[in-house]
Amino acid sequence: MSDIQDHRKNLGGFPDGFLWGAGTASHQVEGGLTNDWSEWEKQNGERLANEAEKKFAHTPHWGDIKKQAQDPSNYISGRACDFYHRYEEDFDIAKSLGHTAHRFSIAWERIEPEEGKFDEKEIEHYRQVIKALRARGMEPFVTLWHWPLPLWLRDKGGWHSQKAVGYFTRYVKTMVSALGGDVHFWITLNEPEIYPMNGYLRGVWPPQEKSFFHFLSVTRNLANAHRHAYRAIKKLQPDAQIGIAKHNVYFEAAGGKLVNRILKRCADWVWNFYFLNQICDVQDFIGLNHYFHNRIDYGFNKNENKRTSDMGWELYPEAMYHVLQNLKRYNKPIYITENGLADAADAHREWFIKESLTNVAQAIQDGVDVRGYLHWGLTDFFEWDKGFWPRFGLVEVDYKTMERKIRPSAWKYTEIIKSNALHE
Ligand code: FCB
Repeated sequence: MSDIQDHRKNLGGFPDGFLWGAGTASHQVEGGLTNDWSEWEKQNGERLANEAEKKFAHTPHWGDIKKQAQDPSNYISGRACDFYHRYEEDFDIAKSLGHTAHRFSIAWERIEPEEGKFDEKEIEHYRQVIKALRARGMEPFVTLWHWPLPLWLRDKGGWHSQKAVGYFTRYVKTMVSALGGDVHFWITLNEPEIYPMNGYLRGVWPPQEKSFFHFLSVTRNLANAHRHAYRAIKKLQPDAQIGIAKHNVYFEAAGGKLVNRILKRCADWVWNFYFLNQICDVQDFIGLNHYFHNRIDYGFNKNENKRTSDMGWELYPEAMYHVLQNLKRYNKPIYITENGLADAADAHREWFIKESLTNVAQAIQDGVDVRGYLHWGLTDFFEWDKGFWPRFGLVEVDYKTMERKIRPSAWKYTEIIKSNALHE
C-alpha cells in the first residue's frame, strides 16, 4: 500500500471490532401494545391532527405529509410495523445490510402486565428475539425502558412515584436473570431528560403535566432507578456492560462572544452533563443519542438551518464531533445509540450518514473512545406524538401491506460498514 493510501486509511478507518447497526424501540415498531402511551394516543389523536398545521406547515414537505398529519388515525400506534411478528424478517434485512449489532427495547408492559405478575410467554419472546440476533451474528443492545409504562404503574403515579424505582429494579432483575446469559450490553433508560421535559415540564407527552417540581422528582427517580438497576445487573452478571442512552446536544457559542460562552456553559451543564454526573460512578459506557445543534447568539436556537429534515430539524452533522469531544471527560467507551433523520424521499440520508461518520472518525482520531454506531432506525416507525409520517428508516415500511423496502442510502451505509472505513 502506498503512503497516500495508508494515510487515507488512517483518516477514514474505524477501529477493529467497531460495531455497526441500527435500532428500534418496542412502542414504535412492535404493534399490539397496551400501555400509558397507547391510551394517551386514543385521547389525543384528534387534537394532534388539529394542531399539525400549526406545528408543521413550515417544514419542507408539508404538502406531501399534510393529509396524513391531519388524520387522527396517524396518531394511533396500533400494529405499528408488526415487528413483534416480523423481527426475524427485519433482522434478515439488517444482516443483508452487513449490520453487526442491533438495539431494541423490551416492552415492560408485556412482561409485567399486572403488578408483580411476570409473563413467561413474553419473556420467552424476547429470548427468541435475542437468539435471532445472535444467530445472525449481531450483538444485541437491549434497552430496558424506552418510555411507555404498564397501566398499573401509570395509575400509581408513574415515575413521579418513588416506588417506581423499586418496581423498575424488580423488573430489571427478572429480565437480566432470564436473558443475561445472551446479553452483554444493557441500556437501562432511554433519554432520561427528554422524557421528564416533555411529560412533566412542557406537558406535551403523557402524563401532560407542567410542573417544575414533578420534573425534578421524575429526573431524580430516574437517576435512582438507573443506580439500583446498575447494581442489580452487576450482581447477577458481573461482566455486563451497562449504560443509558443519553440525548446530547451541541451548544455552539457563536463568534466566541462572552455572553454566548456563558450561556453555552450553563446549557451544557443542565442538558448534557447533569444526568451523566449523577450516575457517572455507575455506568460502563455512554450511549449517545444525537440529533441537535443549538447555536447560541444572544439567545438559543439561532441556527442557520441550511438543510432540514422532513420534521424541520436542522441537519448539521458537524455537531457529532463536538458532542463526542464533550463526552471525553467521562473517560468511558461511547456507543452511538441513535443518530438519524426523517427523510421520506431519502434525499439527505446518504450524505447525512457519511458526514456524521466523518465526524465520528475525526473524534476517534482525536482520542474519543467511540466503539459503535447504531443508526436510528432500522425501519420506519411510529414517532410518538408525530405518528407515522416521519420516515426515519434505513428500510421503508408500507404500513398497508407491511412490506419492507431497503432505501438506497442503506446500501451506502453498508459500503462503509463492509470496509470499516469511509473512503473505499
Ligand atoms: C429520540 C427517541 C427515539 C426516536 C428519535 C427520533 O428522542 O429516543 O425513540 O423517536 O428521537
